[in-house]
Amino acid sequence: MELEQIKQAALKAFSEAKSVDELYEAHVQVLGRKGAMTVVMQSIATIEKSQKAAFGQACNVVKKELEAVYEARKKDLEEADLKRALNDRWVDPTAPGKKFDVGHLHPLSQVQNDVERIFSSMGFAIMDGPEVESEYYNFEALNVPSWHPARDMQDTFFIKGDDGEASEEFGSENFNRSATISNEGRLVLRTQTSPVQIRSMKKYGAPLRIIAPGRVFRNEATDARHEHTFDQVEGLLIDENISLADLKGVMQEFLTQLFGRVMKVRFRPGYFPFVEPGIELDMSCTLCNEKGCRVCKGTGWLEFMGAGMVHPNVLAAGGIDSNKYQGWAFGFGLTRLVMMRYNIDDIRLLSSGDLRFIKQF
Ligand code: DAH
Repeated sequence: MELEQIKQAALKAFSEAKSVDELYEAHVQVLGRKGAMTVVMQSIATIEKSQKAAFGQACNVVKKELEAVYEARKKDLEEADLKRALNDRWVDPTAPGKKFDVGHLHPLSQVQNDVERIFSSMGFAIMDGPEVESEYYNFEALNVPSWHPARDMQDTFFIKGDDGEASEEFGSENFNRSATISNEGRLVLRTQTSPVQIRSMKKYGAPLRIIAPGRVFRNEATDARHEHTFDQVEGLLIDENISLADLKGVMQEFLTQLFGRVMKVRFRPGYFPFVEPGIELDMSCTLCNEKGCRVCKGTGWLEFMGAGMVHPNVLAAGGIDSNKYQGWAFGFGLTRLVMMRYNIDDIRLLSSGDLRFIKQF
């Protein structure tokens, strides 16, 4: 009997279906618009009148049964799917949440931001210069000729294999290099931020008010107070009628804002080839406020930076007329400032990448 065959075939297909999709396909084959069951039921038109009722009833019974089996099987398969999905990506809604560490700025960046903010508020522009510099910018243009003993004061990293013939262009995009590398001597890792003075003068001329924070490099044996890589901030102000009194005012204001209390500064004579006269600037001891303590060795003062009136040779190298303009320059150690501000006694901690240290700031 055809009806029975269709039913058995359908039951077999339903039970063998391994997914909801396969099951649906089997359902279409039997009960869809062109399914076997549908076709059989349409044949009722050709059946003898006396048997129509019985045949129709038999068809309906089979159809209902198949639909019921189909629904049950579908439910089973769907449950199995869900279970599999949950096993694949099992979530325990009662487990405690995962904590994501939020990073923060390195203490060096924090202090650099403060320095930039304070000087910006006084009208200074923030400049950048290349870390790979030419000997010309790092020394010659700053009134440090090759025979000058000051060259020995700074142990310099020279770029290996570079004998002045380098064809590659190094340097910050801020600057158009007017001379070729070969005219500028060998390449070095800059030992100071002072070369940015020359680059800024050449680019912007006078009057000029800039600071240039950045990394510098010295071939030094490292210990608690020395690193081969550290940060400086250069400053340069050029205008008419400028004197060291202006420097005193600017630095006193800067330090007062930075430390959040009234700070004093004092000058001592000092020597740097790029300034004349040259000075060393001390600031009030951050610990004892000029009373004298262990940190300032009883003097009440801490050495802070080198500075002075820009040497006419340096102005000339920057293309500035020293008969009309004069100015002062300074350079201080940003790294040292960070160490003073946070009482850090080992410079190496700052670049150690040790999170136990870094997380304290
Ligand atoms: N470049 C000097 C150094 O690295 C610091 C310095 C001293 C910068 C005097 C200046 C200056 O601009 O006028 O030790």
